[in-house]
Amino acid sequence: MKQRQIIITEDGSSSLYIPALNEHYHSVHGAIQESMHIFIQAGIEYYNHQTIHILEAGFGTGLNCYLTLLNAQSTNRHIIYHTYEKYPLTTEEINALNYPVFISPETQDIFHSLHGSPWEEEIKITPYFTLCKHQADFTEVSHPSMFDIVFFDAFAPEVQPHLWTIEVLQKFYEALKDNGIFVTYCVKGIIKQRLRDLGFKIKRLPGPPGKREMLRATKISDAHDKE
Ligand SMILES: C[S@@+](CC[C@H](N)C(=O)[O-])C[C@H]1O[C@@H](n2cnc3c(N)ncnc32)[C@H](O)[C@@H]1O
Repeated sequence: MKQRQIIITEDGSSSLYIPALNEHYHSVHGAIQESMHIFIQAGIEYYNHQTIHILEAGFGTGLNCYLTLLNAQSTNRHIIYHTYEKYPLTTEEINALNYPVFISPETQDIFHSLHGSPWEEEIKITPYFTLCKHQADFTEVSHPSMFDIVFFDAFAPEVQPHLWTIEVLQKFYEALKDNGIFVTYCVKGIIKQRLRDLGFKIKRLPGPPGKREMLRATKISDAHDKE
């Protein structure tokens, strides 16, 4: 595992930085701000169902997962959240994250229970939120037609191109139900083309502060609807 450093982003929330890759876990303009914008607002809030199955590539700090749990609680919707992580954080790193302090201090224990939750087991964390963490390589996911939303939160394709190949993206396409959505911060042309080739309909949306655009792609079963 490569060395990581805790950093503070511009909205005051913490994140991690990997010097060897010169790569951050979140936008330096604001970790919470970015996660709320891309995964909560453009992902979960767009998807108007009472029960939602989510698949995440890269659990990392658990920020997307934590915000999703809080969203489930405030909207009384049931969320079943599967997430993959190959390089889990250490206890020291987890304890250095300031998300509950910023977002909801009374849910500090819940944030830690997400990290403490066992691997490879579905655990009901709250009445509205069930978590299944996989300590595994997400390039090998295989869950045909199970999910409503994919949170694709891998390191950038410029840094780790092997995580964005058409073969890997296809596994996430296959994991979605028809009309399921794939959300990511990445709007690189070659990635959009791969998603289109797989059968996604692409929508570019305004990005979070510091980033012009983001992407939401919908799995379309009818070829005539594709962009
Ligand atoms: C950009 S970070 C985002 C993490 C997380 N969503 C968050 O909010 O902290 C990408 C994550 O993917 C993980 N990762 C990288 N390659 C992976 C792989 N092949 N399989 C599973 N996880 C991987 C990294 O360890 C890191 O936690």
